[in-house]
Amino acid sequence: MMEDAASARAAKLRALLEHHSHRYYVLDDPEISDAEYDRLFAELVELERKRPDLARPDSPTQRVGARPSAAFAPVVHAQPMLSLANVFSEQELADFDRRVRERLGHDEVIYVAEPKLDGLAVSLRYEGGLLVRAATRGDGTTGEDVTANVRTIRSCPLRLRASKPPRILEVRGEVYLPRDGFLRLNEAQAAQGGKPFANPRNAAAGSLRQLDPAVSAQRPLRLFCYGVGEWSGGAVPSSQERLLAALSDLGLPVNPERRVVKGYTGCLQYYEDLGRRRAQLAYEIDGVVYKVNEVFEQRLLGEVSRSPRWAAAHKFPAEEAVTRVLRIDVQVGRTGALTPVAVLVAVAVGGVMVSHATLHNPDGLARKDVRVGDLVRVRRAGDVIPEIVGVVLDQRPSHARPFVFPDHCPVCGSPVIRNQGVVARCAGGLVCQAQRRQTIRHFASRRALDIQGLGDKLVEQLVDGGLVETVADLFKLKVSDLAGLERMGERSATNVTQAIAKSRLTTLPRFLYALGIPEVGEATARTLALHFASLKALMVADEHELTAVQDVGPVVAHAIAVFFSEPHNRAVIAALQAAGVHWPALEKPSGGLLSGKTVVLTGTLEGMTREEARAALERLGAKVSSSVSPRTDFVVAGRDPGSKAERAKEFGVPIIDERGLRAWLDKAPAL
Ligand code: IVH
Repeated sequence: MMEDAASARAAKLRALLEHHSHRYYVLDDPEISDAEYDRLFAELVELERKRPDLARPDSPTQRVGARPSAAFAPVVHAQPMLSLANVFSEQELADFDRRVRERLGHDEVIYVAEPKLDGLAVSLRYEGGLLVRAATRGDGTTGEDVTANVRTIRSCPLRLRASKPPRILEVRGEVYLPRDGFLRLNEAQAAQGGKPFANPRNAAAGSLRQLDPAVSAQRPLRLFCYGVGEWSGGAVPSSQERLLAALSDLGLPVNPERRVVKGYTGCLQYYEDLGRRRAQLAYEIDGVVYKVNEVFEQRLLGEVSRSPRWAAAHKFPAEEAVTRVLRIDVQVGRTGALTPVAVLVAVAVGGVMVSHATLHNPDGLARKDVRVGDLVRVRRAGDVIPEIVGVVLDQRPSHARPFVFPDHCPVCGSPVIRNQGVVARCAGGLVCQAQRRQTIRHFASRRALDIQGLGDKLVEQLVDGGLVETVADLFKLKVSDLAGLERMGERSATNVTQAIAKSRLTTLPRFLYALGIPEVGEATARTLALHFASLKALMVADEHELTAVQDVGPVVAHAIAVFFSEPHNRAVIAALQAAGVHWPALEKPSGGLLSGKTVVLTGTLEGMTREEARAALERLGAKVSSSVSPRTDFVVAGRDPGSKAERAKEFGVPIIDERGLRAWLDKAPAL
């Protein structure tokens, strides 16, 4: 019974590993994390170790990599591309070093330590100094011909820099994608509606194994060389240290982080040092590699089951881990953007405890459908904020419900404005605590109320000291409030209060811009001011009327309407006016016969196109709007007028037909 269970488990593990290895290596589209794969693999290794009768020649444990895909011509490596034995702990490192010392009969061994890049192993063949072939590792014996693609890698020399290059040189190295290149590539993928790559390794593999080398060329791939297969002709370097220096001299890129270290302690020091600096590296690494330095010692040690006894990979703890979602919080940023954040059962990810992970925005949250109670995969890439990679769906608790994004700001209770699901923003800009500093900085900025001397540092002190809660409080500040603050003498305090006083006289466009209404920049503020001419008219306009304003679409109209419907915002505006903030009345545009009139066109016109009619009306000074409101001056109705004519009747707005329009236009000045 026990036997059957063990052999069934081994078969199951083999099938699973085969499947996931195909997804990872051949399709570049993994379904599970590297850490999960490693766990399954370790389980099978352990099972086969305990029960050697269960081992099979076709087990994934007996093979170095996956089979090459048929799309690229097979290449047989002159020397097999070996794999590395892994060590996961200090104890395993000590064991590795002990075995090496015992075999060599030394007290202390000199190693070369190198970063272990997370990319794709390649073998580059140079004949007479010219790059003739590049191949992937494949199964270690036979790889795929990726010469055309590798030739597109800028850092890969097509000709070695030597007057007398080795007759044949097969260099081994890693093709990788730096972090920033990975981010750019994924942004571009997303922009084209493509699927983003799960990690830089897959992105590098996917880029290198492009059938069209022109696509590879667009990808910012890079290369580091760390070894050789065949070296014929000329003096072969006698140590790893000399080999790397020689490769570098030949013009090949070699990682500058490599170091010669002494014994177990030297290895461990290097591992810890690089681990601390890992996030600052421009590329991802998943561990370090130790190699016995002297080549003759490497020969003495030899290899077992396709990995050398003279080298080991010391892996960093997984940068991905699985944990549970306790809660989903919504944080409000300084600009009012709402970010969903998952609060997690704390878990170590890449050696750092993680208890929060960002879900970026409502869309990201909805796409991943993360729910309270879910098991999720958490990832930490470099120094960025940890993020949730995905949900372990087959373990979702039955009670888990989709998260409902709040429609009110969790900080100030104001309504939330959604812009096509991507950004959610709090509409309480003038009152929301989370946004205070930013709101006040914006209010005082040059293109807004232009209050000179009210810089970041001062705003920070005013807000943190409780002197200013809303922008209206600025006008209550006295010299004595300011003097005594950091970097504020009597003189500067006087200057600032004078600048504040001066800013009371402004213009309507500046004032509207200063309010920091979501979606309303300088240009929109100006258009709104010209259209409505008064703050009061703007504040009472409904979304429908707002969309009648040129360049104001439904999203902007919604943001404006919500902003002004928020009582707190209205209170602050009233306080500003009470404090004496004012602007000269705007002159209505004048000149044309229809100047200041709002006209709406509807139905089909016979003698002219809609565009011609619009242009003609505008020449007369009219404002042509797309929807009817009580303030519409008249509606021009052609054939089959529809709902706009209905609305006009409802509001008692006069309707004229095409003939009537002609009569007006005939009076137009010739242009
Ligand atoms: S040496 C006989 N050095 O790790 C030595 N490998 O797990 C064979 N790798 O296939 C490899 N950085 O893809 C070596 N500095 C480094 C490496 C490195 C990354 C990869 C390489 C190799 C795999 C073995």
